[in-house]
Amino acid sequence: MFSLLSRHTSAFGVASASGTAARAALAAVRSASAAAAAHMPPSATGEASVDNTAPFATCAPAGMQGNMRFVLCNPREVNSNSRSSYVRSMVGCAPGSVMASSPCFTAASRGLATAANAQAIAASATPARRSSSTPTAGAPPELVHTERSDANAGATSFGSMEVEYMSSWKENLEGESRIAVAPTPTSDWWWTGKAPVAGTPGVGPDGLVTSLPLVDYTTASRQELLDYFDNTWLLTEVLFSSLASEEAFYRPPWHDLRHPLIFYYGHPAALYVNKFRVAGLARDPISPFYEKIFETGVDEMSWDDMHKNVMRWPSVANTLDYRKRVYELVAETIVSSPHFDSLAEAGPASPFWAVVMGFEHERIHLETSSVLIRELPLSLVRRPLTWPVDHPSATQAQPTANPVAGVDFPTNEFVSIKPDGPVVLGRPDSHSGFSWDNEFGSKSIDVADFDVAKHLVTNGEFLDFVRSNGYLEQKYWSPDGWAWRTFRNAKWPTFWRPFGPAGLHEYRLRAVFDEIDMPWAWPADLNYYEVEAYANYIAAATGKPTRAITEPEHAVLRTGLPDASDFVLNPVAGATASSEPDAVAASPNLNLVWGSHTPVDAAPPSAHGVRDVMGNVWQWCYDHFAPLPGFQPHDVYPDFSMPCFDGKHNVIMGGSFAATGNEASRHARFHFRPHFYQHAGARLVQPAHPTAEPVTSCAGCEGPFVGATSPYRVPPPTTVTGAAAAAASAGSAPPAAASAAPPRVAVGSTAGIVDKYEDQIVLDQYLNMHYGTQDDFPAYIDAGTLQFPQRCAALVEGHTLASNPRARALDIGCAVGASAFELARTFNSVTALDISHAFVEAAKYMQEHKALEYKVRREGGVFDSYVARVDNSVDVSRVDFAVGDATALDPATLGTFDGVLIGNVLCRLPDPYLLIDVLPELVNPDGTLVITSPFSWLPQFTPESKWLSAANGSSAKALTDALDSSFELVSSGDIPFVIREHIRKYEFVAAHLGIWRRK
Ligand SMILES: [Fe+2]
Repeated sequence: MFSLLSRHTSAFGVASASGTAARAALAAVRSASAAAAAHMPPSATGEASVDNTAPFATCAPAGMQGNMRFVLCNPREVNSNSRSSYVRSMVGCAPGSVMASSPCFTAASRGLATAANAQAIAASATPARRSSSTPTAGAPPELVHTERSDANAGATSFGSMEVEYMSSWKENLEGESRIAVAPTPTSDWWWTGKAPVAGTPGVGPDGLVTSLPLVDYTTASRQELLDYFDNTWLLTEVLFSSLASEEAFYRPPWHDLRHPLIFYYGHPAALYVNKFRVAGLARDPISPFYEKIFETGVDEMSWDDMHKNVMRWPSVANTLDYRKRVYELVAETIVSSPHFDSLAEAGPASPFWAVVMGFEHERIHLETSSVLIRELPLSLVRRPLTWPVDHPSATQAQPTANPVAGVDFPTNEFVSIKPDGPVVLGRPDSHSGFSWDNEFGSKSIDVADFDVAKHLVTNGEFLDFVRSNGYLEQKYWSPDGWAWRTFRNAKWPTFWRPFGPAGLHEYRLRAVFDEIDMPWAWPADLNYYEVEAYANYIAAATGKPTRAITEPEHAVLRTGLPDASDFVLNPVAGATASSEPDAVAASPNLNLVWGSHTPVDAAPPSAHGVRDVMGNVWQWCYDHFAPLPGFQPHDVYPDFSMPCFDGKHNVIMGGSFAATGNEASRHARFHFRPHFYQHAGARLVQPAHPTAEPVTSCAGCEGPFVGATSPYRVPPPTTVTGAAAAAASAGSAPPAAASAAPPRVAVGSTAGIVDKYEDQIVLDQYLNMHYGTQDDFPAYIDAGTLQFPQRCAALVEGHTLASNPRARALDIGCAVGASAFELARTFNSVTALDISHAFVEAAKYMQEHKALEYKVRREGGVFDSYVARVDNSVDVSRVDFAVGDATALDPATLGTFDGVLIGNVLCRLPDPYLLIDVLPELVNPDGTLVITSPFSWLPQFTPESKWLSAANGSSAKALTDALDSSFELVSSGDIPFVIREHIRKYEFVAAHLGIWRRK
C-alpha cells in the first residue's frame, strides 16, 4: 500500500497497563519463587526483573501473589503454629534473606526446616491472625512470616506469595498506637537510619532538616555518598512522621488513583534492593514478598483509571523493620562495595550507578508522597517536628476574598524574549551529577521569539478564572480536559478549600500539613488541563494566543540563570531559612530551603527578568514527554522513561520547593499525565509570531515510543495557520494561532480559492482523503473510494506506453502530495504544483519527514488524530513541489512531460480554458494525460460563462472537444472518492475521468 496512516485518538479510552503489568509481575513473582527454591536470583532464570515504577507515577500492585503475610510478634511468644507457618514461608525465601537472621528462624529451623515437615505441619495449621501485640518501645520488631490459613492454605505450594484481598482497606488497621505520637529526634523506634540530631547530614543548627545538594559522583568519597544517602533516607522518614495515625498509612487517596501511603513508605526501600540485585551489588532479596508488593507499579492511565483493589498490606511496624534492614544493606554497600571504584570513571555504566539511582528515586517519591499527604484529611496529618520552616507568608493573615492585584499578589506581565540562537536540550558532558536516562542525549532547537509571563500564575490571578465560572465554560477546555472536569466536577483548584456560602468564592488553601489563609501570591497548584483552560481564558481576554510554556522555551529562560552547574544552582542547599536567612532569600525555592511555597516574587529574577525559572512549583509544559536523540534506557531501570513515551504525558520543568537532588537540577525533565497533581502550576507564553503549533521537544521525535506509530507531534508547515487553524484545533485546546495569516505565494488570480484552501479543516480533510486507509474509515465506506490520488496517479502510470520514457511527470493540483509521491514510483522526476501554499507546505513536510499529524472531526468538538505517512519505498526526492497557478502555467519554464495528471482542478479555476489550451505544449508526443473533475461548477470560483457545460450541456464532451485537436481520447468514465466531514458524514463524489494520449 502506498501510504500508511495510523490512528490514535486523544480520548481516554486507553487500555490500562495494569493487566499487562500484572501478568509480567506474576511471571516475575513466579520466577522469584522458583529461583529462590533453586537458590538462585530470578535474573539467573532468564526472566527480567519487572519494575513498572515510572517516575512520578502511581505504583499500583500488579500480579501480587501468594497467601503469605507478615505479622508482628514477640519471638518469646512464638508458638508452634506460628513457627511451623514460618518455616513454610521460609522455604520460599532465598538464603541470606532477612528471615535467616531472625530468632524465629533459628527456633523454627532446628527441627522443622524441611519441606516435608513443613508441609505436614501446614496441613494441620490453625488459622493465623495478625498479632495485635505492640512491641516494647525501643525494641526492634521482628519480621515473622505467618501464612494465612484460609481455604487455600492446604493447596498452596511453598513459597507462594499471593496477596490477600479484602473487602475494606480498614482491615489493615491493627491498632498500632505508637505512631499516634509524633516521633521526636530521640524516638529510636521510628528512625531506621540516622535520627535528625546534630551531626546528621542535612540537619541544621536549629535541628531542622533540609536537603544536601546533588552529589557530584565524579569526586564524591564514600563518606560523602553515605552522607547524601543518610540525608535522603532521613528526609523520607521526617516526611512520613507527619502521618498521625495508622489510618493515614492505609486510607486510599480520595481519587482512588494511587496506593495508600504504606506503599510509598516501603517502596523506596524495596527499589534499592531490587536495583542492587539487577546491578549485581546484592545477590539475594531481603524479602521477596516485600520487594514485590512494594516494587511493581503501573502508571495511572487516566483520571478514571481507578485502582480499586483493596489488599492487605504489611503492618507499619513490619515495614519499618524492613526499612531498617534495607538501610543497613545500602549503607554497607556504600561503605564496602568494590564497585564504588568504577563510579567516577564509568558513571552510568558502573554497577554502583544503582546506588545513586536509588538515592534519586527515593527523592522523587519524597515529593510525590508529600503531595499524597497533602491530599489526606487534615485530621490524619501533623507537621513533622523537624520539617524545614515554611515561608513566613504561610502564616500571614490573608484577605478572605477580593484580593487586589499589585497589593495581595504581584501584577503579572509578559516579558519579551528573543533567543539569540538555538537551545540545546540534554545534560551537557560537563554535568557530573546523577541524571535519569531521559536527560541524556542532545537536541538543538530553534526557538522563535516569545513573550513569557514574568511570574507563575498566582492563586490571586486564578481567582478571576474561578469567579468567571471558567470551570463551567466548556469553550476554555480541551475535550479531554472537559471530560476530566465534568468527571471530577472540579470547580476550583484541588487544594483550594471553599468556606462560607457558595458563590462568595472564599477559599483557604490546603498546604502539605496545614490549612492556611489563602496566600494569593503563591503560585496556583494546577493540573495541565487547568493550565490549558486558564491559558485559553487569558487568550480570550487579551486577544492573543496564549498557552503553556514549551520545554525549549523553558530552556531559553534557563540560559539566564547565573551558572551552568547544578552544584551552585542552589548555593544554600544544606542550609535552612533560619540558619542562613539571607542566602536562602537569594535562592530559588528548591531543595527544601523552604518547607512550603513562596510568593512568586520572593526569589530574585533571572537575567531575563523572569521569576521562579527554577523552583517554587513545577511548570507544566506544552510538550509531550519524548526522548532526546541519543536516548538509551539504562540497563538497571529500562522502564523508567520508556513507558511514558506515549504522547500522553506532558513535560514538567523547573522543580518545586520539594524537589531535591536531581529533581532540582536544571537538566531534570519529568512528566505527568495531564490530570495529575503535583506541586505544579502554570507559566504562560504568548508567541510573538503565532504559528499553528509551537516548536516542542517532542516534535518530529523519532522515538523510541510506545506503540507501533509515533505519538509525537509532527510540526506542520509554518504557513498552516490562520483563524481556521485555531478553530480546527479548538477541540484539543492548546490555543492555536488565531491571527497572522501566512505569507501567500500564490501565483495568479485565484485569491478566493486560496482563502478556502488555507483553511486548516480543509487541509486536514485532504490529508485524510490522500493518506487515509480502510482502517481509518467505517466498513461501509467502500475501499474503492479511498486513496483517490494514488488511483489517479496509477492511471497515468498504467496508460503510459511501455515504449515511452518515464522521465518527467507533472501533477497539476497536487494538493497534499499523495498523487505526486505515487507518480515518483515510476517517473524519474515529478513536478507537482498547487495554488494552495498550505497544501504545498504540507506536501513538502511529508516529503521531508514522511509523516504529518492531522485531525479530523469525529463529532461536535471532538477530533480524531491521525498521522499521514509516505511509504518508505518511495523515492520522495524525485518530487519537486511548488506553488503554482494552473491558469498561468508557462511551458517555456516548466518544459514538457511524459505524463500529466490534473486532479479535480478544472471546476475551481476562473477560466479552465487557460489550462486546457496550454496542455498541448506541456505533454510530449505519445505522452499520457489524465484529467479528473466532478464538474462542480460554482459561480464563486468560475463565471458561468466559463463553465465547460455552458457550451453544449456536457462538461465531459466540451473537454474532449477542446483537447481533440492534440489528444486522442483513450478512455473515459467515472472515478469515485469520499471526503470525511465527520464520523457520520461523508461527501461522496463521482468525478469524471478522462485519459488521453498526446498525438
Ligand atoms: Fe517509584
